[in-house]
Amino acid sequence: MSKISAFLVLLSSGLSLASKCPPSFSIPKSDAVDHVNPLIGNGGDTPNGSGGMIPSTAPPFAMTRWVAQTHQNYVSVTPYNHTASTIHGFQGTHQPAIWMGESGQVVVVPGTGSVKSKFEDRGLRFSNDTQITSPSYYRVELDTGDGGRILAEQSATSRVGHLRFTFPTDQSAYVLLEATRPTPITYIPTNITYPLGSIAVDPARREITGSNSERQDWIITPTSIAQNTRNFKGYFCARFDAPFAKFGVIQNGSEIPGTQTRTGSLLSAYARFPAGTRKVNVRVGVSFISVDQARKNLDAEIANGVALEQTARRTRAAWAEKLDRIQLEGASEADKEVFYTAFFHTLQYPYEQDEGGRYYSGYDNRVHQGKSYTGYSIWDTFRGEWAWLILFAPERIPSMITSTRMSYVA
Ligand SMILES: *[C@@H]1O[C@H](CO)[C@@H](O)[C@H](O)[C@H]1NC(C)=O
Ligand SMILES: *[C@@H]1O[C@H](CO)[C@@H](O)[C@H](O)[C@H]1NC(C)=O
Ligand SMILES: *[C@@H]1O[C@H](CO)[C@@H](O)[C@H](O)[C@H]1NC(C)=O
Ligand SMILES: *[C@@H]1O[C@H](CO)[C@@H](O)[C@H](O)[C@H]1NC(C)=O
Ligand SMILES: *[C@@H]1O[C@H](CO)[C@@H](O)[C@H](O)[C@H]1NC(C)=O
Repeated sequence: MSKISAFLVLLSSGLSLASKCPPSFSIPKSDAVDHVNPLIGNGGDTPNGSGGMIPSTAPPFAMTRWVAQTHQNYVSVTPYNHTASTIHGFQGTHQPAIWMGESGQVVVVPGTGSVKSKFEDRGLRFSNDTQITSPSYYRVELDTGDGGRILAEQSATSRVGHLRFTFPTDQSAYVLLEATRPTPITYIPTNITYPLGSIAVDPARREITGSNSERQDWIITPTSIAQNTRNFKGYFCARFDAPFAKFGVIQNGSEIPGTQTRTGSLLSAYARFPAGTRKVNVRVGVSFISVDQARKNLDAEIANGVALEQTARRTRAAWAEKLDRIQLEGASEADKEVFYTAFFHTLQYPYEQDEGGRYYSGYDNRVHQGKSYTGYSIWDTFRGEWAWLILFAPERIPSMITSTRMSYVA
C-alpha cells in the first residue's frame, strides 16, 4: 500500500492519531484515552442487539454519568441512541445497564424562545458532524429551530455535572431543569405512573434544586422488600453563573404563576437570562441524601469559578491514570479503539454511592457512615470483571466488598 492510500485508509476509518477533542480538552496527553470511542456498544436493532452503552462523560466509577438525552430511557432503552436526530436535554443518569432502568435522574435542557418542558416538545435537531464524544468531554451544536445554534458542552466529576451553553445573542435563552417525568409504564408493585418529587427556584443563589423518586428497578425488585426503599430519591442542586432575568415553575407543561417551589409530579423549573447573555455555565450537584448534600457535593467537587476546561482536565487525568497502565505493541488503530473502549467500559460500575463520608442505603432506607458502592452486576458480566478490578482499582476493592454492610446509622 502506498503512503497516500495508507493515509486515506486512516482518514476514512474516522480515526486520527491526535485527539478528537479541541486542544484545551486534550490535556493531559493520553494515547489510550484518545482511542476510546464511547459510541461503541450503543444502538443496535433491538435492545438485545445492543451493548447498552452510552457516550457519557464522568470519571471512573462515578456516582452520576452525564449524557445527551435522545430517548425517554427505560428498562431496555438507553437515554442515548445514535440513530436519533434530536437531543432533548442532558441527563444525569444512574442507569448502570440497559436491563436495569433509571433511578433518581435529573435532566438539564437548554432552549431559546418560549419554554418547552415536555420531552416530545423540547427536542432540538443536531447533526453528527458537530458532535464530539470522549470520556471527559462531550460537545454538540443544537439547532434552535429558528435559525440559531446552541453550542452545548459537557463534562462531569463523580457527583457533579458541568454544562456550558453558548447561546445565539439575538434570542432569549433559558435553561430548564426537569425533576420528574411520566414513566413509560406503571410500576409494579406500587402502580406509580407519575413519580413524585419537588422543585425550587432561588434566584438570589442562582440555583434550581429538586428531587425525584423515580426508580424503575421496582419492576424487578422482589415485592416483599420494595417498601424498604420508599424514601429513595435522587436530589440535585443546579447553580448557574448567570443572573436570572426571569424564572418559573412548570407542572405538566404549564407554568404555575407566582410560584417558586412545588412538590408533586411532572415538575420542571427554568431560568431565563438577561438579553445578550451568551455563555452560561451550570453545575449540577447530585445526591441520594438531600438537596443540602447535593449543594455540598457541588461546592466540594466543582467550586464557583472553575472552568469547564478544568473539570474536563481532571476527569481526563483520572481516565488516563487507569487506561495508560496498558500499552499495546503492534496493535492497529482499530485494535486500540476496541481495546481501550472496552477497558473504559469495565471501569464505570459499580458506582460510588457515598458522599461527604455518608451514604443512603436501599437495604434499610437509612443513611449510614462510610464508603459505599452500588450498581453492581454479577449477572451479565464476565467473571473476569472482578479479577480485572482487583488489578486496576485495588484501592476500591475493600469498600466495594463491604458495601452491603449496614453498620451504624449516621
Ligand atoms: C435504537 O434506535 C433504533 C432505531 O429507532 C431501534 O431500532 C433500537 O431498538 C434502539 N436501540 C435501543 C437499545 O434502544
Ligand atoms: C431480540 O429481541 C427481539 C424482540 O425484542 C426478539 O424478537 C429476538 O428474538 C431477540 N433476539 C435474540 C437473539 O434473543
Ligand atoms: C452519527 O455518527 C455515528 C458514528 O459514525 C453513527 O453511528 C450514527 O449512526 C450517526 N447518526 C446518524 C443519525 O446518522
Ligand atoms: C397495581 O395494579 C394491578 C393491576 O391493576 C393490581 O392488580 C395491583 O393490586 C395493584 N397494586 C397495588 C400495590 O396497588
Ligand atoms: C397533563 O396534561 C395533559 C394535557 O396537556 C393531560 O392530557 C394529562 O392528563 C395531564 N396529566 C396529568 C397527570 O395531569
